[in-house]
Amino acid sequence: MTAHRISLIPGDGIGPEVIDAGFPAIEAAARSVGATLQIERLPYSADHYLKTGETLPDPGFKHLRDETDAIFVGALGDPRVPGNEHARDILLGLRFRLDLYINFRPVRLIHPRLSPLRAADRAVIDFVIFRENTEGQYQGIGRAEEVGSPNERQISEEIHTRKGVTRIVEAAFEWAGRHGKSRVTMSDKANAVPWQRIWGEIFNQVGARHPAINREHRYVDALAMELVREPERFQVIVANNLYGDILSDLGAGLVGGLGVAASANLHPGRAGLFEPVHGSAPPLAGKNVANPMATALTGALMLEALGYPEAAKRLERAVSTVVAEGPTTPDIGGHSTTTEVGRAIAEAI
Ligand code: NAD
Ligand code: IPM
Ligand code: MN
Repeated sequence: MTAHRISLIPGDGIGPEVIDAGFPAIEAAARSVGATLQIERLPYSADHYLKTGETLPDPGFKHLRDETDAIFVGALGDPRVPGNEHARDILLGLRFRLDLYINFRPVRLIHPRLSPLRAADRAVIDFVIFRENTEGQYQGIGRAEEVGSPNERQISEEIHTRKGVTRIVEAAFEWAGRHGKSRVTMSDKANAVPWQRIWGEIFNQVGARHPAINREHRYVDALAMELVREPERFQVIVANNLYGDILSDLGAGLVGGLGVAASANLHPGRAGLFEPVHGSAPPLAGKNVANPMATALTGALMLEALGYPEAAKRLERAVSTVVAEGPTTPDIGGHSTTTEVGRAIAEAI
């Protein structure tokens, strides 16, 4: 039996709470199929940064690159670090330096009562977002000019490379094909931002290699509206880093909010980085009220990536059962604690 090395970075705010509550369920699901998780806890966080000046030190990065099978992050972000430099180094740093170019974010309605939409009881909301994860505006290329003067300019460059766009679009079509989907929707804003035109060109080229799958295009503003009006018609959405970020919170809002939204940062063939979509939610931190379901569902993505689809299904089913029968946290209408919900998911495995 193989033991999989899991590197945990609980991080800031509600991160440690949702990890403590959610991980026993993830371990139980792994155990139920005979897999063992060998878990190490790493200290990288705002606290650690403020104490030591260290965000993600080089030996730590090399360890994560070479000596682990999966990285799992709780959340990063702390009001005491207003520039967010530790999160940039740790979270974005790992995404970029490990070249985890796919940010895979499923949006699935697991119980009709979780959706704010009127038609949710009739609708099957079940799509995935392929968010490009290494380029776009997130590379942080830019500068400030004439700082402090009335002419001050902050200039941000947005990078879309042929290689980067091709591989994320390819990943979306490839996943669609493997999962019996019939349509991929690409979203950009090339009508207003000319240097996004490469997305349309590559989308058509790559799409032509997947003739069984229809391709459609939506400007991101129109897509935002359509996702609210008719979410059930979407199957696979592919978008640049920034639009994928925004659309994934919108998607989360359609199916219960950030308390139930999971994500995986992937590069096929390499160890992935798994994190709930939500942040550190400073107002909730330390209160034992944050929803650990996003962590559990992210655990399912991790188990699937490690080769245990059955364990992943079990974990998803356990979360669905707990959503239906309780206990649940206040964000989805309950009165229970993070700890109680975590325990209930583990018991439902
Ligand atoms: P947030 O995701 O922390 O919170 C947004 C809203 O969702 C808040 O109302 C919060 O209470 C609620 N929420 C989030 N997670 C929840 C959970 N598990 N259960 C119940 N409610 C939950 O986003 P924000 O407030 O914009 O950002 C706070 C900090 O987190 C910032 O520093 C930001 O940069 C950081 N952040 C980190 C990540 C990450 O680590 N992956 C993701 C997003 C934001
Ligand atoms: C996310 C977060 C991050 C992002 C922040 C914390 C840098 O919002 O994972 O969605 O924008 O990618
Ligand atoms: Mn986000």
